[in-house]
Amino acid sequence: AGSLGAAAAQSGRYFGTAVAASKLGNSTYSTILDREFNMITPENEMKWDTTEPSRGSFNFGPADQIVSHAAAHGQKMRGHTLVWYQQLPGWVSGLSASDLQSAMDNHITQEMTHFKGRIYAWDVVNEAFADGGSGQHRSSPFQDKLGNGFIEHAFRTARSADPAAKLCYNDYNIENWTDAKTQGVYAMVKDFTSRGVPIDCVGFQSHFGTGGPPASFQTTLSNFAALGVDVQITELDIAQASATNYASTVNACVHVSRCTGITVWGIRDSDSWRSGDNPLLFDGNGNPKSAYSSVLNALNAA
Ligand code: G3I
Repeated sequence: AGSLGAAAAQSGRYFGTAVAASKLGNSTYSTILDREFNMITPENEMKWDTTEPSRGSFNFGPADQIVSHAAAHGQKMRGHTLVWYQQLPGWVSGLSASDLQSAMDNHITQEMTHFKGRIYAWDVVNEAFADGGSGQHRSSPFQDKLGNGFIEHAFRTARSADPAAKLCYNDYNIENWTDAKTQGVYAMVKDFTSRGVPIDCVGFQSHFGTGGPPASFQTTLSNFAALGVDVQITELDIAQASATNYASTVNACVHVSRCTGITVWGIRDSDSWRSGDNPLLFDGNGNPKSAYSSVLNALNAA
């Protein structure tokens, strides 16, 4: 197939990108988006600071723009993200524990209800684990006031709000199997699946340096999948975007049957949150880079 989305679809997968609502009117941007990608993650528009800037007052306008675009172009949507310690409006961190619990429940319920039927999978909780060797949750308003159970509680609330949506845990630096952070997330998913806590998928952000993915990445994906969840690569970008590193990353996914899709974190290098690294598949003019062909070939070979 001649586009990333169509090539991924041949093996039942999707190929997506992060999208900024403010760029949809740029024709270079939207032409590539609609030609190449069949899954969209809003880069910022579904985060708490945009969707509920003051308590109980919701703003879904920017996200609605992206969701409408996706519907008009046959693209699926990943919801990103309901519970995250960043891009959190100031009012959230000032709440008492019981107010925070009800604010979290209400935020999950209102946002999922608004988009019901239009989101394939939600990043219910994002980046809850600490960096480094602890393998434990990181400090956040949720962790510090609600305790370890906040993640389970968020997933249960999400399942009630939209029983048809897939519910994912999403994090970075969990791609190398032996890392303490990877093991911490693995233990949580294992515990959830064994106790029937609703979780359907794990997102591996995959923000890689010039070295590309860790050698164990495929092992990590298949070990998580063996717990009975789907796995996805959710925010892929690789410093300097070597064709080899991109191909290894795609191959790690396509060799795992429950790795259901790959999303890159932006279209052109100029769209990237780390634009100095030129980490994406298209250059600033919208021309495909060598990494583009290597990804397309790896998808077509799957
Ligand atoms: O919209 C405001 C604008 O009004 C303001 O004038 C301007 C001044 O700084 O900031 C604009 O907001 C910025 C926003 O992106 C939209 O461009 C924020 O400052 C900036 O912090 C924000 O960065 C986003 C970052 O998450 C925030 O943590 C990046 O675009 C986004 O790519 C990045 O995405 C995250 C994923 O959600 C989770 N995983 C890691 C990934 C990379 O950090």
